[in-house]
Amino acid sequence: MATIYEKMTTPELTLALEKLDTQVELTRAKHLALDMARGKPSPDQVNISRPLLSILNEDSDLIDEGVDCSNYGCFEGIPSARRLAGAFLGVPAEQTIVLGSSSLNIMQSVLIHYWEKGVPGYTPWSKLDNVKFLCPVPGYDRHFGITEDLGIENIPVRMTPTGPDMDQVEELVANDDSIKGMFCVPKYSNPTGVTYSDETVRRLATMKAAPDFRIVWDNAYCMHDLNEHGDHLMNIHGVAATVGNEDRILEVASTSKITFPGAGIAFFGSSEANVKEVAKTLMVGLISANKLNQLAHARFFPTIEALHKHMMHHAEFLRPRFQLVQKKLSEGLGDTGCATWTDPNGGYFVSFDSQPGTAQRIVKLCADLGVKLTPAGATWPYGRDPHDTNIRIAPTYPSLEELGQALDVLVLATKTVCAIKALEDRE
Ligand SMILES: Cc1ncc(COP(=O)(O)O)c(C=O)c1O
Repeated sequence: MATIYEKMTTPELTLALEKLDTQVELTRAKHLALDMARGKPSPDQVNISRPLLSILNEDSDLIDEGVDCSNYGCFEGIPSARRLAGAFLGVPAEQTIVLGSSSLNIMQSVLIHYWEKGVPGYTPWSKLDNVKFLCPVPGYDRHFGITEDLGIENIPVRMTPTGPDMDQVEELVANDDSIKGMFCVPKYSNPTGVTYSDETVRRLATMKAAPDFRIVWDNAYCMHDLNEHGDHLMNIHGVAATVGNEDRILEVASTSKITFPGAGIAFFGSSEANVKEVAKTLMVGLISANKLNQLAHARFFPTIEALHKHMMHHAEFLRPRFQLVQKKLSEGLGDTGCATWTDPNGGYFVSFDSQPGTAQRIVKLCADLGVKLTPAGATWPYGRDPHDTNIRIAPTYPSLEELGQALDVLVLATKTVCAIKALEDRE
């Protein structure tokens, strides 16, 4: 679709650009210092979890169903925390491990394990000439970083409104045994906010692939609905088990964006065999995780309903921010043809696509005007967005007022860069 600037005559375009330049200079004079880069809850939002910190004190009973949380032991996690993990991940509690605070750390540990030792019964990935991973794009840069760091080749696959393009995924994995895995954020994907359809989940669980092909099912946002009735996500473990693929699914999640980022508890859930095998390897380097933190979390969330209630409290902070993104972008760019963006029902991000060849310049102009965004390209493996269109919007951290100002700058920068490009394309 042509932008309004492309449709203008050259004198009209020159005039429009002059007006935009004036606005740019007025904005620059405000000396803004705003950050819309990383997906973090705002300080006020984090504060709603402070009561968790009072749950344990020196007088507390530190026994959880017979397990002494104040001493070594119970590697897989305390019973009540594993039950919570099971409810989170949709697997029986016995098929979970509750670990430290970071799900990213679990993903890395498991992939390093397969790299060094191989999926049980198969060649270590490090011994193979080629190992590839599928990366839905736009996606999460830190996923891509784990495989890139190991020397695994990241292959982008296109995201659609129902999840990764399954025709492309099936075609790739069926014909290339060196593809050993795939990253998925199945609910409120980072950054599109897309939740995978039942058909996508079914196809991922049952498609033909290398026997040691693994799906990292990163359910980081499984609880992060913006409204009472969030998106529905099919339980992939059940479908995978119907065709004997239960070992394919490595699910992780954490309470990072539920209680305290970096100080919550993290979950791993998979088949019985995988849980046993992964526990055995992780145990080499860890006697037991922080069970006191597990206990505090399990008491803070005695039921999954208590957790849901807490999430609705979080949503009160998030909803107005997501609404403001939609309002500012539709008012500022709605009929310009300069950009499209997603409108998710949960999660932490909005994915914004500008005209080809403009994202980097938009992010740079925003930075010049005092608004920090996630670097353009970060949503693609190796930071290379081939069409230079995608920008991840992270609206959760700034106050509403700051967010409004930051979005105004994004709108202005998008229009300005589009107008400049329309002029350049004529020269
Ligand atoms: C998709 C996804 N997975 C994992 C993480 C990090 O989670 P953790 O704090 O549990 O390592 C994030 C954080 O933004 C994320 O967006």
